[in-house]
Amino acid sequence: MLRELLHIFVCGSNKQAPMAGESWKVPTPVKDLAALVEEPPSRFVQREEDRPGSLTVAADMPDPLPIVDLDKLSTADEAAKLRSALQTWGLFLATNHGIDASLIEDLMKASREFFNQPLQERQKYSNLREGTRLQLEGYGSDPVIAHDHILDWSDRLQLKVEPEDERNLAQWPKHPESFRDLLHEYATKTKTVMEKILRAMAKILEIDEEDFINQIGGRPQAYARFNYYPPCPRPELVLGIKAHSDGPLLTVLLVDREVGGLQVQKENKWFNVPSIPHTLVINLGDSLEIMNNGIFKSPVHRVVTNAEKERISLAMLYAVQRDNVLEPAAGLLDEKRPARYRRITEANFLEGVKEHFSKGIRMIETLKI
Ligand code: OGA
Ligand code: NI
Repeated sequence: MLRELLHIFVCGSNKQAPMAGESWKVPTPVKDLAALVEEPPSRFVQREEDRPGSLTVAADMPDPLPIVDLDKLSTADEAAKLRSALQTWGLFLATNHGIDASLIEDLMKASREFFNQPLQERQKYSNLREGTRLQLEGYGSDPVIAHDHILDWSDRLQLKVEPEDERNLAQWPKHPESFRDLLHEYATKTKTVMEKILRAMAKILEIDEEDFINQIGGRPQAYARFNYYPPCPRPELVLGIKAHSDGPLLTVLLVDREVGGLQVQKENKWFNVPSIPHTLVINLGDSLEIMNNGIFKSPVHRVVTNAEKERISLAMLYAVQRDNVLEPAAGLLDEKRPARYRRITEANFLEGVKEHFSKGIRMIETLKI
């Protein structure tokens, strides 16, 4: 049965099948695998030290995660809240973000509908090309680079949303019918949110308000990553997404309003990130850590799974224009505060992030001076 399912996934479309012996590169969507197995297969089982709860049980945050009112960012109080959240966690909750609760509800509902379609329907948007090469865009898993790469207990649908004229609409689901319009409307709003936060951060750091906006260029990139975490019979053995930091600039995250799972690391301990309906979780990415010369760090985070319930999230990942150079903002540097990271183009940086991710290495570590 499992072999049959794999066969459907690999060969069921008119895309070429992988070369013999290479099927390990094309994992079955976890949703379909989960329906068949009682135990997670060994490829999903984390090393002892990485398992949730093996060495460190995640705790609730000692103080509530600041909820930043994006409408009041120009006030000293709200800016202080943002600064404290970024210093302590590298992430915060955002309210008054200008996105209607009904748009959030409708988009989450539409993504759930996409993931709950039969395999053949989801597979129309597969990220599989020429058998085994996985593209960044489309439905499936992250590229499986090595045979012994431990897999995440989740499936993804990843779509480029910015620049708008580079959208590949053929990869955008047609069902449910509202999906494309909802994503378009949502992406327009989150772009404004991203710009607002970059300006507020520049102000907090006492550099020109437009410095970060100018650095990202006129054609910043954005990907929408819909994550689907099926229930897992042994949540203590697997991770929904292994520990990582986001490579791009800033992530605007919508989490499942009912099922938690996101955890952030601080001083080698894991903490549960709370979820509040219609409130965005915003975290710094590595590119912004470089741009602010490490004053605010990009947080390491992971997702744990749930034994009974599926979980959905939507991460909007904003990145600097591809050919722009990533480097600490000039206004933050002087003799006493030298650059802590080497310069690199955004394109080379993100390529490095992709290569290092499956090995559990953070690309940003390789750039530290
Ligand atoms: C991600 C991520 C967290 C979540 O997509 O990079 O960390 O809650 N997602 O799904
Ligand atoms: Ni992430």
